[in-house]
Amino acid sequence: MKSVAIYNGSPRKKGNTVFAMQYVFEKLNAQPNIEVNIYNIIDFNIDVCYGCRKCMELKHCTNQTDEFEKLFNTVKASDITVWGVPVYWFSPPGITKNFIDRTHAYFACEPMLKNKYAFILNIASDSGFRNSETVMKSWLEWYGADVRESIDIIATEANDIKLNKSKIKQLDEFIFQILKDN
Ligand SMILES: Cc1cc2nc3c(=O)[nH]c(=O)nc-3n(C[C@H](O)[C@H](O)[C@H](O)COP(=O)(O)O)c2cc1C
Repeated sequence: MKSVAIYNGSPRKKGNTVFAMQYVFEKLNAQPNIEVNIYNIIDFNIDVCYGCRKCMELKHCTNQTDEFEKLFNTVKASDITVWGVPVYWFSPPGITKNFIDRTHAYFACEPMLKNKYAFILNIASDSGFRNSETVMKSWLEWYGADVRESIDIIATEANDIKLNKSKIKQLDEFIFQILKDN
């Protein structure tokens, strides 16, 4: 049994990313031998990284009062992670970047995502795909994950993916890639 965790990195609750990630969730959930969970990063109370670097000695974050560990534990517990990330100013949105920054807590540890596969879905109106993907990919790879696939979907208004057959086809191909080796 493989475990898959899907992350919606958009703050927009009824936008393209949440639609796409829910679509991926439903397709994977219909498969035998896969346990799938979905998380909206916006639903977690995650503080910023203050850059104190105490984690370099402590090997964990001094801030244990928010829900960063709760969300990162789901990443660590999964064989496969799938990241839906809209592009905000050529980068992942602040909520997603805050989460990424907080994983600095484990910078001085053995890479925690070794032997795990990751998949990235980048969503944007027209520009910044590669910059945002570089943030996601370099972060996942830093912690040892094997990024198997990263795809781009162009979308702006809330239902741009939902109402477009060729974009749904892109999602189906993305799901095929997730299932291929698993
Ligand atoms: C604050 C903000 C910044 C954005 N920056 C970019 C950008 O740099 N490049 C781009 O092509 N689209 C940009 N967009 C458009 C979003 O990527 C696009 O609307 C996407 O569909 C949003 O995903 P969502 O529907 O899941 O919220 C931006 C949107 C917002 C709200």
